[in-house]
Amino acid sequence: MKILITGANGLLGQHLVKRLLEKPYQVIATGKGDCRLPFEETEGFRYYPLDITLESQVHDVLEKERPDVVVHAAAITQVDTCELNAAQCEAVNVQGTSHVLVNAESFSAHFIYVSTDFVFDGEQGMYNEDDELRPVNFYGFTKMQAESLTETSEIPFTIIRTCLVYGNVLNGTRNNILTWVKESLENNKVIRVVNDQWRTPTYVEDLAKGIELVIEKKATGTFHISGNEWLSPYAMACGVADQFGFDKKRIVEVSAGTFSQPGKRPPKTGFVIDKAVRELGFQPISFEEGLKKTFRVKS
Ligand SMILES: NC(=O)c1ccc[n+]([C@@H]2O[C@H](COP(=O)([O-])OP(=O)(O)OC[C@H]3O[C@@H](n4cnc5c(N)ncnc54)[C@H](OP(=O)(O)O)[C@@H]3O)[C@@H](O)[C@H]2O)c1
Repeated sequence: MKILITGANGLLGQHLVKRLLEKPYQVIATGKGDCRLPFEETEGFRYYPLDITLESQVHDVLEKERPDVVVHAAAITQVDTCELNAAQCEAVNVQGTSHVLVNAESFSAHFIYVSTDFVFDGEQGMYNEDDELRPVNFYGFTKMQAESLTETSEIPFTIIRTCLVYGNVLNGTRNNILTWVKESLENNKVIRVVNDQWRTPTYVEDLAKGIELVIEKKATGTFHISGNEWLSPYAMACGVADQFGFDKKRIVEVSAGTFSQPGKRPPKTGFVIDKAVRELGFQPISFEEGLKKTFRVKS
């Protein structure tokens, strides 16, 4: 089976390529610009530079490779960038998705779209797959539009929504709230961390595993794939402090309203993952275990 991945240089893309290459799949990785994956080209692995805003490029690569499955992970993922550069965000997240989808349709591939908890307004928290979508920022709005496009498609499709993905890129460290907490506490700083937002953080290898399960089982429809602990950033920061024995008194709880950001954040998201557990056999690791893997701490 041949699987093509967009956004393969990104956090998820890298781990997905790695996981699929460990199985008897042919993997076609594509990304904006040069390959940043630490793999040599082989019979079973090729990389193409592919900007999804350019329809002809998308067409040429898909026509050449004719994949059985397309995992569409490419997106502008920074919420504030999307808010401040709406046209660019729309071009990548909506038009780009349309280019990938239309060409996947031409070659009758199974289309897997990676979406986000930010399609919800965050008033309720712990969302099910069929809860009402009501994004509160432009990033979430474009991801919702891309979901709608996907749903109109004639080919088998799957929408996988995920939530706060953490972990490292394959050949280095990726800065995120967890690495910031560790570095700050290591340097004896006092940090202010939000205590009134909630997420179900997702360890990146679990998300890659969930996508592989969807591919294996040819599962269609919408699935929520995330961790299963509902945590505030403050609780996550305390988890990091516990991991390294740092003094938690240096983590000060603050409300999200303390910080002003261009893109509004939904306060309470997080997912009910029962459907993925039941239908895919998906089982995430604990947040504590995910932290150990992220920081490469021996158990
Ligand atoms: N990370 C999260 O917490 C999270 C949460 C919910 C949902 N998601 C979704 O999960 C998916 C993967 O996210 P991620 O964490 O792996 O994000 P990421 O690391 O930012 O990866 C996204 C990739 O898309 C690429 N890209 C941007 N514009 C492109 C274009 N015009 N053509 C081709 N590729 C382009 C980026 O390329 P460059 O690296 O060259 O910029 C990047 O490698 C996204 O669809 C995102 O919306 C992520």
